[in-house]
Amino acid sequence: MKRVAVPILALGIFLIACSSQTPEPKPSTSETTQSADSNQEPRVEPGLQTVTVSFKEDINPLIQANCLGCHSGPKAKEGIDMSSYDLLTTSGEHGAIIKPGDSSGSLMIKAMTGDGVDIMPPAGKLPDDKIELVAQWIDAGAKND
Ligand code: HEC
Repeated sequence: MKRVAVPILALGIFLIACSSQTPEPKPSTSETTQSADSNQEPRVEPGLQTVTVSFKEDINPLIQANCLGCHSGPKAKEGIDMSSYDLLTTSGEHGAIIKPGDSSGSLMIKAMTGDGVDIMPPAGKLPDDKIELVAQWIDAGAKND
């Protein structure tokens, strides 16, 4: 019996060793899942309670706090009046500063990133997450929501 028991025991140890190794491929599987998740990151990234960026909740307050001082009323710089959604999306001596669906082609984002034009606000660039928020709103169609 002993002669049989030893190989079975060895086989048992071998199987245990194998099964303890099987978890190894798992991390790579979950890595794949993670990278698939990270592809979808922009949807969740705002770090806010909402997945969709809202004009009323997110963009308008940001504009009021950082831009309106110089961009409203008859003296609005460059004719860019940001005091309402309609003016924001249409006003400007050189045309609308927002191209719905195209943040990188929008003068508003170029100004906020200092891309070829004076940085806005002139006092200094806003935090990247705020700029990203505006960019996401424009890319999602710059809706009045
Ligand atoms: C302290 C005043 C001031 C504030 C605050 C300000 N701007 Fe301006 N903005 C200006 C002036 C002055 C100009 C025109 C001269 C220039 O380009 O520097 C201008 C021009 C612009 C232009 C046109 C750029 C061009 O070259 O045609 C855009 C777009 C713009 N601002 C967006 C913004 C945005 C977005 C904010 C808020 C994040 C903002 N501005 C805040 C003063 C301001």
